[in-house]
Amino acid sequence: MLWSSFIAFALFAPSHALIRFGCSQLVVDRLDPLVNPGLAPSPHLHQIIGGNSFNTSMLPENHDPPTLSTCTTCQPSDDFSNYWTAALYFRAKNGTFKRVPQKGNSGFEGSNGGMTVYYMQNQLADYAQKAKVTAFKPGFRMLIGNPMANTKADANKYPQLTYTCLQDMGTRYPETKNFPTKPCPAGIMTNVRFPTCWDGKNLDSPDHISHMSYPASGNFESQGPCPSTHPVRMPQLMYEVIFETKAFNNKEDWPTDGSQPFVWSFGDGTGYGSHGDYVFGWKDDSLQKIMDEACYVNCKSMKTQTMAAMNACAVKNRVNEDIGDRDWIPEIPGAPALHLKAADGTV
Ligand SMILES: *[C@@H]1O[C@H](CO)[C@@H](O)[C@H](O)[C@H]1NC(C)=O
Ligand SMILES: *[C@@H]1O[C@H](CO)[C@@H](O)[C@H](O)[C@H]1NC(C)=O
Repeated sequence: MLWSSFIAFALFAPSHALIRFGCSQLVVDRLDPLVNPGLAPSPHLHQIIGGNSFNTSMLPENHDPPTLSTCTTCQPSDDFSNYWTAALYFRAKNGTFKRVPQKGNSGFEGSNGGMTVYYMQNQLADYAQKAKVTAFKPGFRMLIGNPMANTKADANKYPQLTYTCLQDMGTRYPETKNFPTKPCPAGIMTNVRFPTCWDGKNLDSPDHISHMSYPASGNFESQGPCPSTHPVRMPQLMYEVIFETKAFNNKEDWPTDGSQPFVWSFGDGTGYGSHGDYVFGWKDDSLQKIMDEACYVNCKSMKTQTMAAMNACAVKNRVNEDIGDRDWIPEIPGAPALHLKAADGTV
């Protein structure tokens, strides 16, 4: 081996794992077992991926996803976690709505909707992944973001929830806090990054956020230290959700006042209310074992299944209603008094 390539290898060889994997759609349903356990329908529609034990109620004391699931829509066959976000709608000029479908990311073409999930110990572009993290534990759950956020200042409390207007499938910059203002040829990507510092004690908290914290200074990307109240470094969990806007990119179908036509299922036309939910469900200590391997994306300890198996796993809707996948619907399920906000956050 040439000395120069040895140096390069030594510099870039990872110390710990970064994993990136695709998950197909499990179901699109008006359920939220984290915020509204037992409530069907929940206030707004979600798109959900992961283990098929997903249910109206998933209280940790009687719901262990790896025990109750028989399949998962995620590529790692030991991951029965559930991951979800709100669903996205396009609002036509005549005020009717259609749900915007999702598509697989680069490398996961052929996926039935769903999203891409990352677990990282250092930022994505860092091949070394030198930091060491403690994996989430059974019963752990959290959410990030606030559907009630309707100003940029509100949205900035969650610094890592953003949008990327995909010019092609490789576009990663810039990221914005509001919905893109122009048609995005390859779709709208929603980036959901969770806080990375845990209080070390609580698997959940009343607001499902405060058992976690952002670093005390700097951020995850700069490896800022965790605060003393939340001293345990966890993996950064990130979702990339790609909404396929192809059918909705014709400027003639867009509002004539210059605003953009996409609306979250909770009635947010600004994008500031983006949020994501997570219920941990990896089998045994499989996630910690994977995180401890020295690997970047291609990790031997991560057992995988085929795309066909991922796509074959699904659950039936519990709430039966027209969610606007085929016909234009007069209102978004659960959001009859839809209060659309302008792109600058003013109501
Ligand atoms: C969902 O919950 C209901 C009510 O507790 C239960 O009967 C059903 O078996 C559960 N389904 C799954 C897939 O866990
Ligand atoms: C409303 O707009 C959509 C999209 O342009 C169109 O397909 C649909 O027929 C319209 N519905 C009515 C009732 O005009």
